Amino acid sequence: MKRTLLSSFILGLVTLGTAIANTDAKHPKEINFSFKGSFGTFKRAELQRGFEVYKNVCASCHAIDHLRFGNLQGKGKGIHEIRESNLGLTKDEVAALAAEYKVPDINGDGEPIERKATAVDKFPKPYPNQKAARAANNGAYPPDLSMVVKARKFGPDYVYSLLTGYEKAPEGVEIGEGRHYNPYFSGGQISMAQPLHTEGQVTYSDGTKATVEQMAHDVTAFLAWASEPESDDRKQMGIKVMFYLLIMSIVMYLSKRRIWADVK
Ligand code: HEC
Repeated sequence: MKRTLLSSFILGLVTLGTAIANTDAKHPKEINFSFKGSFGTFKRAELQRGFEVYKNVCASCHAIDHLRFGNLQGKGKGIHEIRESNLGLTKDEVAALAAEYKVPDINGDGEPIERKATAVDKFPKPYPNQKAARAANNGAYPPDLSMVVKARKFGPDYVYSLLTGYEKAPEGVEIGEGRHYNPYFSGGQISMAQPLHTEGQVTYSDGTKATVEQMAHDVTAFLAWASEPESDDRKQMGIKVMFYLLIMSIVMYLSKRRIWADVK
C-alpha cells in the first residue's frame, strides 16, 4: 500500500515535471497543410515527394515501423493491397522499391538468411535495436516516425517547425555536447543535427525545387499520412453519410406531405 502511494507520488511528480518541461518550447508555426480540417485531403504528389525525403534522409536513423512497402501502392486488388494508399505507386513500382532492401528471414532448414524485400514486408529498421541506435546517436534515441505526427501536440505544425527551426544558440545559452539549438524542441536542445539543411539535398523525381521548406513540408505531409493512412477514406465516408441523410430527409418530408394530404 505504502509503496503504491509512493510510486504514484513519484509518477505524479514526473508527469508534472514533463508537463512543465513541455511548456518551455516555442509555439509551432501554423502551416497551411492541405490535409487539415474536416474536408482536407492529402495530395498525392506531395506524399510521393515526402516519401523521397524520408527514404533519402530520415531513414538512415529513423524507422517507420507501421509501414509496409505495399502500403505505398494505389487502390488495387489482391493481397498486396493491405490498406488503401494515397501514394498511388503501381504494383511494379512497389516491387522494384522493395527489392532495393534486404530483410532477415528463415530458410527451409530454419537457418537465418537475408532476402530481398517484397510488398508485404515492413520497411527495414536502420538499427538492430535501441542500444545500437543510441550508440550511433550520442546516447539519444531516434524515435520511430510512424506515429510521431499523431503523438506530438500540434502534430504536423510541430514537426515542420522542428525541421525548419534550427538556429544559432542565443548569447549565453550553453549547448550540450552533440546537441543542437532548436527552440521548438522541449528544452531547446536536440540531439538530432539539422537533417534538412541544403537546397537540392534531395532530387525530386517530379522536378520540384527542393528548398529546405519544401522538403520539410513534404516529409511532414508524408509522416502525417503514415500516422493516419485511412483519414481520407474516413472523411470521404463522412461526406457520403451526410449526403445520404440529406436525401433521406427530403424523401421523408415529401412522403409525409403525401400521406397527410387527404387528412383535413
Ligand atoms: C543522423 C540521424 C538522424 C537523421 C538523419 C534524422 N534524425 Fe530525427 N532524430 C534523431 C535523433 C537522435 C533524435 C532524438 C533527439 C533527442 O531526443 O534529442 C531525433 C528526433 C526526431 C524527432 C522527434 C522530436 C520529438 O519531439 O521527440 C522527429 C520528429 C524527427 N527526428 C524527424 C526527422 C525527420 C523528418 C528526418 C528526415 C528529414 C530526420 N528526423 C532525420 C536522429 C536523426
